[in-house]
Amino acid sequence: MDTENNRVAASLSREEQLYCSLTPTSYEYFLEGRKYLPGADSRSPLFYSPYPVVLEEGHGCWLFDVDGNKLLDFTGNHTSLILGYGHPRVLDAVRRQLEKGTAFPGVTVPQVRLAELLCERVPSFERVRFTNSGTEATMCAVRAARAFTGRQKIAKIEGGYNGSWDDVMVSTHPSGEQSGDLLRPVAAPASLGLTPDSIDNVVVVPFNEAEVAARLIEQHAEQLAAVIVEPVMGSAGMIPAEQGYLDMLREVTERLGILLVFDEVISFRVAYGGAQEYYGVSPDLTCLGKLIGGGFPLGVFGGRGDVMAMFDPSRGSPQIPHPGSYNANPISLVAGATALELLTDEAIRLLNRRGESLRQQVRTAFEDVGLPAQVTGLGSLFAIHLTPQPVKSYRDTMQADADLRHRIFLGLFKEGVLIDPRGVGCVSTAIEEAEVEQFIGSLRDVLRTLSDPGSPVGFRS
Ligand SMILES: Cc1ncc(COP(=O)(O)O)c(C=O)c1O
Repeated sequence: MDTENNRVAASLSREEQLYCSLTPTSYEYFLEGRKYLPGADSRSPLFYSPYPVVLEEGHGCWLFDVDGNKLLDFTGNHTSLILGYGHPRVLDAVRRQLEKGTAFPGVTVPQVRLAELLCERVPSFERVRFTNSGTEATMCAVRAARAFTGRQKIAKIEGGYNGSWDDVMVSTHPSGEQSGDLLRPVAAPASLGLTPDSIDNVVVVPFNEAEVAARLIEQHAEQLAAVIVEPVMGSAGMIPAEQGYLDMLREVTERLGILLVFDEVISFRVAYGGAQEYYGVSPDLTCLGKLIGGGFPLGVFGGRGDVMAMFDPSRGSPQIPHPGSYNANPISLVAGATALELLTDEAIRLLNRRGESLRQQVRTAFEDVGLPAQVTGLGSLFAIHLTPQPVKSYRDTMQADADLRHRIFLGLFKEGVLIDPRGVGCVSTAIEEAEVEQFIGSLRDVLRTLSDPGSPVGFRS
């Protein structure tokens, strides 16, 4: 085993070796965890080489791992903790609810309260329903669209991630060979084990290519129940839609009787009423997740009253049953309601200004070392793409330098800064200008080392 360990250690890059020296206890947990869990975890995107950090505590914008490393967090658990870790108001609300009960075989007051908050906040929400995740929310929204239109297929965006159920696990991150011609992208399974129907049921359309997407939607219109789109593509690298693209989707879907579904699991934070308010485009249905549970598992789908009425059991048997033992559990609901109350228009504007300032400073840091990079994002969301080419869609990210991105990620970790290994991140309300400065200082240090022609790890070496 020692020989095996030595062999693995020798194949590690210098950054990985440094990372290992900072995280020996994480490594022990990785080895132990692998005995019981494939890959020692239950969330595949969290894995990175050589092994992911094991986190123990979070307070505000700070995370602490099992080795005592203190990390300035720009992930917010992948955008879910918009108020930072353990916000006192959220914890108080949860504590009070814990005393009353965590789940009930009946309707609860917090459910009505959060539904009311959402419908007041987002004009397109006439009715909403709660789930335990964003995945379930998109699944219910697509089912509703199919039931309402009597059609089978959906159009989804190439590189878009809309959860982990079969029909949307298509073309989430296809390789160059898989993706086909831009004018007719191929529906590529993102996993083994999907039924062939799931792939046949998806029409893949490119992002921010209004004419091509409109033509594809028009060609399949008679079979299309829904077009599902993230107004800001999250997993693909925080790529905002162009205004004309979303306007086109609204116009085409309305004209052809297709439901427009906004997946705002990530983009909801960009304005008080979500990205739909920012763009001034009103979808038929919307899905929320992540931040909407205030740090607890919660999803929401909702929208047009006539579509949502299909879930109503109070007028006879519902056309679409929607069971779920922990649907609308009151812990997540009170946490979510508290988070929404704290996310006032003013709070979001401040957060967005901080995000804009961060993106600008990251751009400058890359320019100063002469490393071609694109910084995308909107509001408090950002992503770094190591490519000279402007990034408007998933395809534009395919040529980015993944190896260098990984080295920058590990370099930042060493400096005590955590972003998502895929190069994406976000700003929480717990982050102030001083923390943005710290991030930029660390990034500059990392880039300086990597750009040093004499450095064995440098990108110029
Ligand atoms: C845009 C988008 N939609 C849906 C989901 C699925 O949400 P969940 O992880 O809560 O199932 C995600 C998760 O990352 C997402 O980013």
